[in-house]
Amino acid sequence: MTTATETTTKPATPILQATGVIMRFGGLTAVRNVDLTVNSGEIVGLIGPNGAGKTTFFNCLTGLYVPTEGTVAYKGTVLPPKPHLVTNAGIARTFQNIRLFSNMTVLENVLVGRHTRTKEGLFAALVRGPRYHKAEAASRERAMELLEFIGLENKADHLARNLPYGEQRKLEIARALASEPGLLLLDEPTAGMNPQETRATEELVFAIRDQGIAVLVIEHDMRFIFNLCDRVAVLVQGEKLVEGDKETVQGDDRVIAAYLGTPFEGDPGTEEVAEVEAAEANSTTEDER
Ligand SMILES: Nc1ncnc2c1ncn2[C@@H]1O[C@H](COP(=O)(O)OP(=O)(O)OP(=O)(O)O)[C@@H](O)[C@H]1O
Ligand SMILES: [Mg+2]
Repeated sequence: MTTATETTTKPATPILQATGVIMRFGGLTAVRNVDLTVNSGEIVGLIGPNGAGKTTFFNCLTGLYVPTEGTVAYKGTVLPPKPHLVTNAGIARTFQNIRLFSNMTVLENVLVGRHTRTKEGLFAALVRGPRYHKAEAASRERAMELLEFIGLENKADHLARNLPYGEQRKLEIARALASEPGLLLLDEPTAGMNPQETRATEELVFAIRDQGIAVLVIEHDMRFIFNLCDRVAVLVQGEKLVEGDKETVQGDDRVIAAYLGTPFEGDPGTEEVAEVEAAEANSTTEDER
């Protein structure tokens, strides 16, 4: 019989292990010796001010950049820094600046994401024999399943460019899932979304995790991050400053200092800001007199 205790004490399996990752652009060091592990079943957050190196770190993880130093391992095997090999291994990502094929349909965009998982070779595709048609039908079925999962099944035939911004972000997630990853990297999945869409995205990420896919997510929306993540790492000027649970990260003076004047929602600091704003309003009134 499985008990709750047994479940919680089960040793975590590392899915992603980034070790000593350094990325230099000429004289600028964008990522400084960063170590990060994501275990199976985890949702890990990566936060930090603008320009902290978060996207650059994702680019190092996915082979888009060849790190100046360091290694990235997936399920214990060091990955070559080539995007298609990283995708084949089982890491999928979305982009901060949406990268969809805007003149293709929603369904076609998801099918593009499946190409790494279709075994049919070029010859089969050229002659379009029965094997090809069978594989294509299976691919379409899986793509439709994914569209249902993210709630875009009714827009399968729409051109990607006609979707509202929030739905384009969801479609990026479906396309990433189409490669059947074991780890999903999300770069600002709720940027440009309204609060309702953001809450729905939270639920979507939980559902993805529940399907056995580990998640590493970059986001500036602190409520989203702390609702969602088991663990959060903070990058500041390329360096991992702090890593831990909500309490550890929110209580760290260095993190608060790094975000100068943008206290986490719901923190006592919010009242201080309100006081300062009230004082400023008063002084304006006095100036005007
Ligand atoms: N290809 C590149 N060549 C030169 N510098 C780069 C390159 N890519 C990123 N940088 C620099 O690296 C630093 C980190 O940028 P990055 O985009 O990783 O930050 P970020 O944490 O994702 O910020 P944001 O929250 O604004 O998305 C910045 O100073 C940026 O200008
Ligand atoms: Mg970024």
